[in-house]
Formats: sequence, C-alpha cells, structure tokens
Amino acid sequence: MVFGQFSTSRPFRTSQVIVTPMSILMVKKILLDGSTCGKCTQAEEILRKRNLWNRIDTVVYAEEGNAESEGMKLAAEYEIDLAPFFIVKDEEGSDRLYTRVLELIKKELEVPSSGTLAFNIAAANIKYESFAPGKILADVQDTFGDELILAFSGAEDVVLIDLAAKNGKPFSVFCLDTGRLHNETYVYLDTVRDHFGINIDIFTPSPTLLEPFVKEKGFNSFYRDGHSKCCGIRKVEPLNRALKGRRAWATGLRRDQSPTTRSDLKHAEYDEGHLNDAGKPLIKINPLLDWTSPQVWDYIRKNNVPYNPLHDSGFQSIGCQPCTRPSRPGEHERAARWWWENDTEPECGLHLK
Ligand code: ADX
Ligand code: SF4
Repeated sequence: MVFGQFSTSRPFRTSQVIVTPMSILMVKKILLDGSTCGKCTQAEEILRKRNLWNRIDTVVYAEEGNAESEGMKLAAEYEIDLAPFFIVKDEEGSDRLYTRVLELIKKELEVPSSGTLAFNIAAANIKYESFAPGKILADVQDTFGDELILAFSGAEDVVLIDLAAKNGKPFSVFCLDTGRLHNETYVYLDTVRDHFGINIDIFTPSPTLLEPFVKEKGFNSFYRDGHSKCCGIRKVEPLNRALKGRRAWATGLRRDQSPTTRSDLKHAEYDEGHLNDAGKPLIKINPLLDWTSPQVWDYIRKNNVPYNPLHDSGFQSIGCQPCTRPSRPGEHERAARWWWENDTEPECGLHLK
C-alpha cells in the first residue's frame, strides 16, 4: 500500500490507456452497487470548484470486484488500495502518484507565482472603484501571487475565499486561532477547508506571552481589565507572524461595520503596522468595503457558500466565545462584541491604524 507521493521511472500505461507526457490520469472507484465512491466525487468537486477539473486528462474506473477493469489494473500495478488516486506523467518520463487531491493541486496544478509585479496604490484605488470584489481579488492574486494572503474568520472572509477560488488562481488563507473561539467556529473552519479543498494556515498565541499573562491575570481578565491586552496576545501578535514574508493581505472589512473606525477604508491601503521583507508597509486589500451585510448574505445564499452555524442562532459579528453575544433586535452588529465595555466602537487591534 502506498500513501502520498512517490516518483518512479516506470512507463505509465495499461493495455487500453496510454498517458502522454505532462498528463494527469485520475482513477475513480465504482462500488459493487454501481455508484461512484464518495471520496472520488468529493475530489472531483474540489477540482471543479477551483477550476482545475479540465486539467485531468483521463479518468478511468476501478470497478469493485472486477480485477480486469482499467482502474483495478492500475491499482495493482501501483500497489494502491484506496481511491481516488492520480498519476501524473511528466516530460522526463517519470510518473508521480498522488492519493490526496490537495497534494496533487499543491504540487502539480498551482502555477508558480511571480509575486514581483509593482503595485501603485493610488492607481489601484482608482481602478478598483469600478471593479467588482472578485475582479479586485483576481488583480491582486495576479500582482502578488503567493505573497498575498487572505484573512479568514467570518462571513465576509468566506465570500472572499469563494471569489478567489472561482478566479481559478492560487491563493493562501490564514486564521488566527485565539484558543477562545466557539466550538462551532472550529467545526466551521474544517467545513471551509473541506468545501474548498484548501489548507488554512493557523496561527496561535505565543506561549511565552500567553502563559505568564494567564498565570498573572486568569483566563477572563478582559471582563475586568478590558480586552486590549488579551487581544494583543491572542490576535495581534499572531497576526504579525501570519503576515511574515507577505507583501499584501486581504480582509473582509466593510465600511458600514463602523461609522467611525471603518468608514474611511480604501480598497487598497498601506498597513503601516506590518512591514514586508524589504521594510516597506504591507498592502492591505479590502475588496468588500462597499458591500452591506445583506449583500454578503445574498452572495452566501446564492452561491451555497458554507457559513458559521452561529449566525442561525442570532450572532452577527463573531469573534471569541467569551467576548461575543447574539445581537439584540435593532442593535448595530458590532455592539455584540466586548459589550460590557463603554467603548462605542470596539476594535481588537488587528485593524487599528
Ligand atoms: S475584529 O478586529 O473586530 O476582530 P472583525 O471580526 O470585524 O475584526 O473582522 C474583520 C476582518 O478581520 C475579518 O473579515 C478578517 O479579515 C479579519 N479577522 C478578524 N478576526 C480574524 C481571525 N481570527 N483570523 C483571521 N482574520 C481575522
Ligand atoms: Fe481575548 Fe476576548 Fe480578545 Fe478573544 S476577543 S483575544 S478572548 S479579549
């Protein structure tokens, strides 16, 4: 049995299927009752969602109980007993085997990024006035390549992921796991990973900072002392690490989330708080800044994008479990964050200028 990837120089052929150089063959399993195995269907969906299905040149079937089927013969030849699997044949004549679609995508299908194109922020902001969010994302995906990363936590962010995936261009995603998120949010993170077939880079608080803080102040000091120190350790410092090595990041910020702290957002702005490897401020991209919450939800529903189930229990803006409550009728969405504090425009520090 072989898991993961291996490289051999064996010719890649069976009696009926000959794979030409630089081609990809997928083996799907047909079960005894004639249905296709669930994992094979899921793998195909992942490839389709990322506009990569057309990169699969050949599909053959491993029919359960039929050792003579093409897929079964390949499985025997490559000593594989699980499906789906993929065989990539390259120009040098070697073939590589993958049993995980995500690994196939990462190692074979994602185009290397240039990441070196210049970015004129003023010109970009003029241009983006007439661009839909998906087109803004496509532009920064092209410009920054793998030096761009998408922040993921909530409803707006999953819209960005859906748009970036539909652009069919590579992208990376991070999430700051404060250690205090709702369990529903953790389950949701896995749902998003599976739905889009993506990896999400998770950044957690530094033990060097967190342990003495909790030892001195206890777990819930924010109710007494305010949230800024805890957010500083659990969110802001991990964000610094999440952005290391990048030139740009994209957020789900909207202008109408706050009439004071978010009203003057731009589609592209300098993030003076985070510097790139050349010592210059990162570029922060806010593709959804003009959208309202109903527009976000309209998109989510029309496109069948998964959302955090807490929204069905009255939560609007979702952060950490101890610091978020369901919204009350008529209140602004952010009033449900750090509600015990007097600050009328609460921010955790991720987006402070
Ligand atoms: S916060 O500053 O009050 O916590 P908010 O919840 O409104 O921010 O989210 C605004 C944007 O900040 C999100 O759309 C997302 O881009 C980013 N963000 C917030 N929390 C996280 C997180 N835990 N991980 C990654 N990005 C986050
Ligand atoms: Fe800490 Fe609350 Fe901030 Fe989360 S939102 S990091 S629990 S203060």
